Amino acid sequence: MRVGVLTGGGDCPGLNAVIRAIVRKGVGMYGYECIGFRDGWKGPLENRTMSLGIAEVRGILPRGGTILGSSRTNPFKVDGGVDAIRQNLHALGVDALIAIGGEDTLGVATRLNELGINVVGVPKTIDNDLNATDYTFGFDTAVNIAMEAIDRLHTTAESHHRALVVEVMGRNAGWIALHAGLAGGANVILIPEVPFSVDRVCAYVESRFQSHYAPILVVAEGATPDVAEDVLVDQGTDAFGHARLAQRGIGEWLAGRIELQTGVEARTIVLGHIQRGGTPTAFDRVLATRFGLHAVDAVQDGDWGMMVALRGTGIVRVPLAAATEKLKTVSPELYSEAEVFFG
Ligand code: F6P
Repeated sequence: MRVGVLTGGGDCPGLNAVIRAIVRKGVGMYGYECIGFRDGWKGPLENRTMSLGIAEVRGILPRGGTILGSSRTNPFKVDGGVDAIRQNLHALGVDALIAIGGEDTLGVATRLNELGINVVGVPKTIDNDLNATDYTFGFDTAVNIAMEAIDRLHTTAESHHRALVVEVMGRNAGWIALHAGLAGGANVILIPEVPFSVDRVCAYVESRFQSHYAPILVVAEGATPDVAEDVLVDQGTDAFGHARLAQRGIGEWLAGRIELQTGVEARTIVLGHIQRGGTPTAFDRVLATRFGLHAVDAVQDGDWGMMVALRGTGIVRVPLAAATEKLKTVSPELYSEAEVFFG
């Protein structure tokens, strides 16, 4: 059996741990030959490959990023893209593909599987917004990075009596903001799922100063005020048609409004890609490793069109389509738990 492996979409810590587990079990236990496709779907599209044996995966467990490279290439947006993938897989003698990715990469995997290509999916994203899995790897690392930043910002905010707005990633889901904000003791957490009132945010800021502490506000990059204002700096869309929310400026905009309405000094810290870089946490290394092992088992069983997923503490298989049919977002109940600490 020849098994192709690719990583697509935004990178995240833990990708190398999955690749290592696939190779160690696939080659070591099942006698497969693994072949790496470079840069997401661009790999099978343009025949960009690398060898992927035991030697290539030695020492990569703690390394962030992906040794295979990644891209946001959408083969369905390329003329003759699907035929090119089919031909290249055939020419290379690849019997099955393991696609490691988020909503977009796995959306492509779903469609290719429907067209008869043998695909198994592995969910990754720092955003944790994939349906049908309790957690994706990369999320825990991103949350810990953001939490550490918030811990550090508390002391400098208090020294200067400033409001600090910390903008985190997450696209259209508020998971990173919610978890990092709760773990870091933020005074306000704003998420895309719940439009916020600027007046209420300013009231929280003022009440925090009244108790002689300085407020830390965590704002998800996709959060929006409840008034129809032109907050967005249009950053265009990616190959999958998603608005580029990173750096659209919600944090900066909010800090400006706080200064205007309360008169206190407000600054913004955009954590950006720092949340995606560096070594994975132990939780992400273990989850990623288990996903890799179970993905190889799905290949061995010929269980095409499935994605490995975390349910409780167990790894299960779910249809790829279930993972991508809708986004997993923060519920109002969960958000109201965090609201107890606002102000
Ligand atoms: O999906 C992961 C993510 O980091 C999002 O949180 C963010 O909106 C986006 O990717 C940024 O994408 P890029 O690295 O292409 O700017």
